Amino acid sequence: MKIVAVVGARPNFMKIAPLMWEIRRRHDIQAYLVHTGQHYDARMSQLFFEELGIPRPDVNLEVGAGTHAVQTAEVMKRFEPVLHEQKPDAVLVVGDVNSTLACALTAAKRDVPVAHVEAGLRSFDRSMPEEINRVVTDAISHWLFVSETSGLAHLRREGIADARVYFVGNVMIDTLLVSRQRSESSPVLEELDLADRPYAVLTLHRPAGVDDPEVFGGLLTAIQRLQRELPVVFPVHPRTRKALDGRALPRNLRLTDPLGYLDFLKLMAHARLVLTDSGGIQEETTVLGVPCLTLRSNTERPATIEQGTNQLVGLDPERIITAALQVLAAPPQQRRVPEKWDGRAAKRIVDILARTEGETHGSTAAHPRHRRAPEGAVVL
Ligand code: UD1
Repeated sequence: MKIVAVVGARPNFMKIAPLMWEIRRRHDIQAYLVHTGQHYDARMSQLFFEELGIPRPDVNLEVGAGTHAVQTAEVMKRFEPVLHEQKPDAVLVVGDVNSTLACALTAAKRDVPVAHVEAGLRSFDRSMPEEINRVVTDAISHWLFVSETSGLAHLRREGIADARVYFVGNVMIDTLLVSRQRSESSPVLEELDLADRPYAVLTLHRPAGVDDPEVFGGLLTAIQRLQRELPVVFPVHPRTRKALDGRALPRNLRLTDPLGYLDFLKLMAHARLVLTDSGGIQEETTVLGVPCLTLRSNTERPATIEQGTNQLVGLDPERIITAALQVLAAPPQQRRVPEKWDGRAAKRIVDILARTEGETHGSTAAHPRHRRAPEGAVVL
């Protein structure tokens, strides 16, 4: 089986890594790796390939930044010729970024079956671009690989046939488990003068928290208060860097450039508290057993709250501070790891893809264009 696998933005890299490792090990499946170039800075992209042993992309579409329409359209325009040349049996996309949607849409329109890893997550907040990307990608995918059980219910409610949905676990956690020990050699704590002392980690890049100067200012005030209790490290995303320009910053805030995977993993693992608006970090802190405050009003990853160490606190500074002080006063939490977050998700996915390849070609019934019509449809 030949697949075209797609990555574009930072959170894709730790998801594709274990899939590429698994594919490289086997003879029944081969992958052609496309980087759309949505993220292009060395610290947002290249570094992850080196650290995680992801093969060098076979092609980089170099789309760069743009409005959502421009970025999505550019990926589609540049991805279509790749499908024409490569003639894959399937296209594999991960996560919920613009590159995920753009490549899924291009493939579906060329009748190439799409496999979506991390299907079924829903925040029910359509003001988030990622939510639109999730809903549309799932609607046009042939294989839907679900990371937590909430996804099964969402996909069923959206009318997606159970036969196409596979609960496989979380590929990002595959990468974390493989890398955890190696990350301990990172010198990041010494470099930031944080070895053997409590500290908090902050990440922030979503438009809801960063783009409105008043909201962003409120968050910085909350952080300033928190720094009376313990130092806060803030690796700054390029989008957030623009919002910080020209602002007076809380004293002692430790700003860093975006960190590599191993440095950031070590930083999270030893933190007393993590504050974030990232999706992936909610999951990683759950597995690490580190308390996480999510600076959003919703999450598409409820398992991290129901079973993990995550709490939703929104963007209100008072609420953030109250929750943070409570965490600091409380004894360490018991952690519970969600089902199938066990380091074997990528193997499950590749096994399923390799097994069903024959079906997509051999029998029309399984092909995306030939799904059984629902009751009430008029068909010949
Ligand atoms: C994207 C994803 C988001 C993901 C995030 C992680 C979508 C809709 N959003 O958001 O889901 O959580 O990545 O990072 O796909 N920039 C650089 N250098 C880079 C990358 C970006 O300077 O390497 C700048 C861009 O020029 C742009 C801004 O950062 O001004 C935002 O980049 P973009 O890819 O549009 O979206 P993100 O906010 O990073």
